Amino acid sequence: MASFGTACRHHHSVRGQICGMFSGKTHCPSLRRGERALESCYGFVSPSGRVRRARAGERRRRALSEFLCTLRSVTTQRLKQDQSPMPDQRPGLFIAFEGGDGAGKSTQAARLAESLESLGFSVLRTREPGGTPIGEKLRSLVLDHGHGTIDPRTEALMFAASRAAHASQVIRPALAQGAVVITDRYIDSSVAYQGAGRDLGTVDVRRLNEWATEGLEPDLTVLLDVHPGDGRDRRTAGDAAEDRLESEPDDFHARIRAAFLELAQARPETYLVLPAKDAVEDLAAQILRRVQDLLGSRT
Ligand SMILES: Nc1ncnc2c1ncn2[C@@H]1O[C@H](COP(=O)(O)OP(=O)(O)O)[C@@H](O)[C@H]1O
Ligand SMILES: [Mg+2]
Repeated sequence: MASFGTACRHHHSVRGQICGMFSGKTHCPSLRRGERALESCYGFVSPSGRVRRARAGERRRRALSEFLCTLRSVTTQRLKQDQSPMPDQRPGLFIAFEGGDGAGKSTQAARLAESLESLGFSVLRTREPGGTPIGEKLRSLVLDHGHGTIDPRTEALMFAASRAAHASQVIRPALAQGAVVITDRYIDSSVAYQGAGRDLGTVDVRRLNEWATEGLEPDLTVLLDVHPGDGRDRRTAGDAAEDRLESEPDDFHARIRAAFLELAQARPETYLVLPAKDAVEDLAAQILRRVQDLLGSRT
C-alpha cells in the first residue's frame, strides 16, 4: 500500500497533471492511466471478468499509489500557490531612492518626477515613512524626538507598518494604473538602518518587510552613496535640526552606508549607484537616462 512518503515516478509532469485535472482535461498519460485504474478500482466501470483476481489486486494497489501521488502533488502545488507573494499587476514603473541622510534623495526624486512629468508620464512621488495618513503619523512618532525610548524592534515594526500601508494603499494601486511611482526610501532603508544600524540583522528585517509589502520590490533602486560626514554637513547647513535617526553618531551612519552598498552589490541589475557628491545636474541626467532606458524597454 502506498504512503504519502512514496516517491512519485511522474513527479516531473506534475504541473501538467494538475492543470489537466482542474480544467477538466486530462492530457497527461500517467494521469489518464491512473484515472482508468481508479475508475475500475472504485467500480465506475466494470472490471473485466477475464482479469484474474491477483492482477486486479495489483492494479488496485497501483491505482491507489498513483492517486495518492497525484493528490500529494496537487496539495503541494496549492500550498506553494497560497504562500507565494501577491501577483504583481503593474504596468507602471516602481523606482526607489535610497541612501544616507543628506545624500540628495529628495532633491533627485523631485528632479526625476519633474522631468518625467514634462515628458508626459503620469508620476506619483511619495516618501517613507509616510505616504498615507497613518504612515505620516507613524513618521512623526518614529522620527521626532520626545516620544521616550523606542527600542530597535519597535522602531523596525513602526517603519514596516508604515510601509505596509504605503505599499497596499498607494504604491500598488498607482502601479496598476500605469504610473511611475517614485518613493523617497523603501525596504532597503529598513534593512540598512534597523538591520545593520540597530544590529537587528539584515535577513530578519528584510523578511519582515517582504511580509509587510507582500513582496513588492522596486524595478530600480537609485542609491546615492554619501560619506557620513558629508551627509551631516549638508543636513545641518543653515542650522537645520536633525531628527532622531539623523542625530545618531557617524559610526551608525557608516554601518548604514556599508549595508546599502552591499545590497546594491548583491543585485547590481536593479540598482543605479551614484556618488552623492557629484553635481545635482549630472546626477539628475544619469538617473533620467537609466529610467528612460527602463521605460523604453517596456514599450
Ligand atoms: N549633489 C548635491 N550636491 C550638493 N548639495 C546637494 C546635492 N544634492 C542635494 N544637496 C543639498 O543637500 C541637502 C540635503 O539634500 P536632500 O535632497 O534633502 O537629501 P536627503 O533627502 O537624501 O536627505 C539639501 O540642502 C540639498 O540642497
Ligand atoms: Mg529627504
